[in-house]
Parts: sequence; C-alpha cells; structure tokens
Amino acid sequence: EKQPIIVQGPMPIEAEKLAGHLEDVKEEKSGSFVFYKGKLEGYPVIIAKTGKGMENTAAATALAIEKYDPAAIINQGTSGGHDPELNVFDIVLGERTVNLGSLKTGALNEGEGIEPKEWIPMDLMASEGSAGEDPDAENIRYFEGDEDLLAAAKAVKGKYEKGKVVEGTIGSADVWNNEVDRINWFHEKYGTSVEEMEGAAGAQIAAAYDVPFLGIRVLSNNKVNGGQYNPDTAEANQAYVLEVLKEYIKTK
Ligand code: 5AD
Repeated sequence: EKQPIIVQGPMPIEAEKLAGHLEDVKEEKSGSFVFYKGKLEGYPVIIAKTGKGMENTAAATALAIEKYDPAAIINQGTSGGHDPELNVFDIVLGERTVNLGSLKTGALNEGEGIEPKEWIPMDLMASEGSAGEDPDAENIRYFEGDEDLLAAAKAVKGKYEKGKVVEGTIGSADVWNNEVDRINWFHEKYGTSVEEMEGAAGAQIAAAYDVPFLGIRVLSNNKVNGGQYNPDTAEANQAYVLEVLKEYIKTK
C-alpha cells in the first residue's frame, strides 16, 4: 500500500467538498478532527478537517502523521492579502511559511506604553535555551515549502483561470489583522504575501517529522487594496489543489 497524501482544510467549506471528489471515502474521527480517507485516481488521499487556528492544525498534523504515515501534506484554504499586487481569487504557493505570532516585545517600564512596531521576531527553534535571553532567537524562522510539491503546483498553474498563481510567503497566527499599517509592517519585515491561521503550525510539525509540506492559499480578502471578502474563493482553491494532487501523484 502506498503512503497517502494528506490535504488539510480548516473549515467545513475548505474540507468537505474536497472530500466529495475522492472515491471510496471512509470517515475517521479523532478528537475534533475528521479524516476522510479515500482515493484519487486510485492513489490514497486523506482530507483532514482540522478546525481553524494554529493549535488545531499542529495537533491534527502530528496525529495524522502518527496515524497515517503520509508521503506529503498540503495545507490549503483562504487567506488575507498582504501584497497590493495580489487580488481576491489569486493563489499563493507557500515557498516559505512563517509564524507571525512568535514575537518578543521591547523592554519598557510601567507607563512607557506598548510599541508593536518595535517587537522583535522570535525563533523558538533557535536553541534549547530561553528564547527571551538568547540573541540567536531574535530571528525570523521560515519553513521552506517542499520542492517536489512546489514543482507539481507550478506545473499546473495554467489550469487555474480565476486569478494568478504566484510563489510567496505565507504568514500565520491566531490573529486577523485589519490594521493596514500593521499588515504593511509584516509585509516589509517578513515579506508576507498573505496571512492565515494555520500554515506555519502545519509546516513546523511536518518539519519535526521530516514530512514534505506545502501551503496553498487563495486570497479571500485583501485589506491593502480593498479586496472584499468572497467565500467562493475556498472552492476555487480546492479545484486547483486537486490538479496539484493529480500532478504530484504522477511522480509517486
Ligand atoms: N486573516 C487571518 N485569517 C484569515 N483567513 C482568511 N482570511 C484571513 C485573514 N485576513 C482564514 C484563516 C482561518 C479563517 C478565519 O480564515 O486561515 O482559517
């Protein structure tokens, strides 16, 4: 039996329809996580409905790796634009993924206020010592998207007609940013293309087990160029992800 490919979707609209494209689907539950085990063109694929956010994603990723020993993991869903060149329905392939919630504040005394623009990116993987004291931890930790998954995704760019498909940086945290200056700060400091709430958590755990990982995110909104929220983007992304899967399976 071949090792399955896992495709994660946080919300029901990001997982259930996708599961409907598989053959011979069997549903398995563990905690709040639902795994739809099936086949795509005869190849084992598991759609994971993880729930939203970093914690759900990290737990669902570790659990799925232990349970199913996947060949690769794709994390997909909607996102908010950080780049004015990207429009609602455009898709970002996560060449890199980064945790936007991993920060160290400056040292200010009582009454000196709060200075978010002075906060320092913090790399919790830099050492086994205290990240608060370790100068090496004052760093941005990027997780690299898997080369073979990226190659498959690039190969089928032409099949997506609702927008463009670009390589970029996916930023994640359990935060929905609506302040344009804050979004611009992330865009400049981290080079983020989009933000969402899952990718970096999945990437970190996949890296811990050395499982190939790629984030694929459609813009459902873009605060920096007035792009209004459109939930239909979720399904458009899934259609593209199915093409990526078919292409990737060919190499397996
Ligand atoms: N900021 C944060 N998360 C977003 N999502 C879509 N757009 C944004 C945004 N602008 C996604 C998250 C989460 C859900 C709230 O939608 O990944 O799953």
